[in-house]
Amino acid sequence: MGEHGTGRRAGQSPERNAGHGAGQSRSSGHRTLGVGLVSVGWMGRLHSRAYLAAAQHYPDLPSRARLVVAADPDEGGRAHAVDALGYREAVADYREVLAHPDVDVVSICSPNFLHHEIALAAIAAGKPFWIEKPMGRSAAESSAIARGAAQAGLVTAVGFNYRHAPAVARARELVRGGALGEITHVRVSLLADYSADPAGALTWRFLRARAGSGVLGDLLSHGADLAQYVVGRISSLTGQTRTFLTERPLPSAGAASHFSRGAEGGPTGAVENEDYASALVRFDSGAVGTLESSRVSIGPRAEYALEVYGTRGSLRWDFQRLNELQLADSPDGYRTVMAGPDFPGFSAFQPGAGTSMGFDDLKTIEAALFLRSVAAGRQLAPSAADAWAAAEIVDAIERSAESGSWVDVPAVEGETTVDR
Ligand SMILES: NC(=O)c1ccc[n+]([C@@H]2O[C@H](COP(=O)([O-])OP(=O)(O)OC[C@H]3O[C@@H](n4cnc5c(N)ncnc54)[C@H](O)[C@@H]3O)[C@@H](O)[C@H]2O)c1
Repeated sequence: MGEHGTGRRAGQSPERNAGHGAGQSRSSGHRTLGVGLVSVGWMGRLHSRAYLAAAQHYPDLPSRARLVVAADPDEGGRAHAVDALGYREAVADYREVLAHPDVDVVSICSPNFLHHEIALAAIAAGKPFWIEKPMGRSAAESSAIARGAAQAGLVTAVGFNYRHAPAVARARELVRGGALGEITHVRVSLLADYSADPAGALTWRFLRARAGSGVLGDLLSHGADLAQYVVGRISSLTGQTRTFLTERPLPSAGAASHFSRGAEGGPTGAVENEDYASALVRFDSGAVGTLESSRVSIGPRAEYALEVYGTRGSLRWDFQRLNELQLADSPDGYRTVMAGPDFPGFSAFQPGAGTSMGFDDLKTIEAALFLRSVAAGRQLAPSAADAWAAAEIVDAIERSAESGSWVDVPAVEGETTVDR
């Protein structure tokens, strides 16, 4: 691995992260980074596809990923990793991934309760990692990961994929460039129905010890990141949470996904975290706004919407219409602008406006940012500090929901991409 391929930031000792498996690709001259994956669920499969797609969408990428080893205790996941995703081997225990001599970077796509343990182990092994959100089950776990990675000089990436949508990236440019005037108020609402069916199984997502919070960590953490990425830091808030479906059927044996149904007429268990959360927020800038999220809303399927209002104009974006930006830059109201090659990131995927990008493409952008970060030893992808910042908002909503008061959101240390 050469001088830019250490995955450490400038000034860090290169020998601690020699990248044993990294090599020069014989055909292209690009560096090769060996990928180790932990957990072959929805996100693990998507990370794997994204690493490979990144090389095709970005021929200028300084490094190419090679899928080396995947870990999952589920036999079906291991078979899928080798047969369909193209990993050279699959193992049951994630420790074998971290210890593998050909693994240079790690994707952590496990259920939330393992993130802290695996991330700290990746830090101890000196391996840069791309971790899914919520990074920790709490702000305390997230800060330990972010601080550990910073102290070790490791670059990171976090699964805040929605910020990569070209229309969101354009929204940030417009807001930060002053096109909307002074930002007055912001609405971020992430309403989904993935848990609306009462027959949905009591998977790890509904259990405190396994998931931490409920929809707060699962969806509202994305919303917190979107609000801060586009507008700026949230400094205080008052929040509320509710659990509407308090019992769910236990899952049948085997791996249960996001959308699994429990056995009919079988035993049930208690839902331990919230279905719904909302907050009134104040930004550092003086803007005010609301965050709201539900996993049990019937109607919106995955309506993840951002609205920003300013003294000279407004914009709104909804993930369900990923390629459209609603823009009101005149008194005549909103007009729809289709994302096209002039939007940030679009032209790597489609040649003309109106031909749509999709969810997986957002992950490809994230994979490319991670690979570039590792190659440059510089944080380009959403960082562990960004995930810590989102976790502080989640924790603040929980604290406020309990006390019924406004609470301050602690500022985080380290390098966030929000302020760049
Ligand atoms: N960025 C996003 O938009 C997004 C979307 C969905 C999920 N996520 C996050 O991704 C993570 C994974 O979610 P998912 O939907 O892929 O979950 P999933 O339920 O589809 O998959 C989880 C996988 O973890 C495996 N697993 C269980 N115990 C394990 C262990 N001890 N070691 C290794 N693997 C183990 C399971 O066998 C399964 O294959 C979560 O943190 C979730 O919040 C992010």
